[in-house]
Amino acid sequence: MGRKVGIVGSGFVGATAAYTLSLLGTCHEIVLYDIVPEVAKGKAIDIGHSTCCFGHNTTVSAAETPEQMQDCDIVVVTAGVPRRGEMTRADLLMINAKIMKQVIRDIKKYSPNAIVLVVSNPLDVMTYMALQETGWERHRVLGMAGALDGSRMAYQIHQKVGYGAGQTRAMVIGEHGQHMIPYPEISAVGGVPLDQIVDRETMDQIIEGTKDGGAEIVRYLGTSAYYAPGCAIAVMVGAMLDDSRIVTPSSVMLEGEYGYHGITVGVPVVLGSRGIEQIIELELNDELQKKFKASVASIQEGVDILQEQGFF
Ligand code: 2OP
Repeated sequence: MGRKVGIVGSGFVGATAAYTLSLLGTCHEIVLYDIVPEVAKGKAIDIGHSTCCFGHNTTVSAAETPEQMQDCDIVVVTAGVPRRGEMTRADLLMINAKIMKQVIRDIKKYSPNAIVLVVSNPLDVMTYMALQETGWERHRVLGMAGALDGSRMAYQIHQKVGYGAGQTRAMVIGEHGQHMIPYPEISAVGGVPLDQIVDRETMDQIIEGTKDGGAEIVRYLGTSAYYAPGCAIAVMVGAMLDDSRIVTPSSVMLEGEYGYHGITVGVPVVLGSRGIEQIIELELNDELQKKFKASVASIQEGVDILQEQGFF
């Protein structure tokens, strides 16, 4: 596989993903695009300077028009607006769906063989939209969320137990939003199951802290997170370019797995050069099945709004 990565949207998340990829030396070529060409250009030059500082051979450039972002192996979509005070969820959905529709059309035209990694919010609905708009097979269109939410959970675990930094593995499935499902039963510190080292109350605090992870940052910064999202993107892109077959939760179209059809939601997958190589089906207990159902219903609500508005 080649190693050209396009990033649509050069805000904090897109640019941090580009910077992280260039630091890791994961790809040979990164192309940034933004609706404001000066932003893509300025950030591409700055990141390009940094690769020269490190002596890395990743090249970073800006596309001034969508057609200048051609033949990418992977396109990461971070374009979209964040929710502002007065906006409803449906308002946000409509705005970002319009942006997404055009972005996906361009990707289809100019990078017809790419894998699309969706990052724009609401994540699972935007991934659904990207699948509808491309008409591509589901293994080539996926959403980044669980890798980020899992890192936030690992952070929460470390905050509570005070040991095992870098050794903590945590799993979060379901919606990227209020109905996400932190999964302590299969999270572990240095291989030791979490439920053997923390009590129920601490576990609940870890779960709440994980769900609040993105919002907490917005409260401090007044804007969404970008270091961890950029890092999670880089890890997923790296796994696909290297065909390393890591397991990480991603938003993916279910076709019968977990008992659902035709809805995108976060579940563990194997990532490789085809994108999603395999979907891993966890056996969920009754409580988790209920939570999973609520996650799916919440995502479906967003999909239904777009359907009513004639998006597909
Ligand atoms: C986050 O969770 C906004 O999806 C982004 O930080």
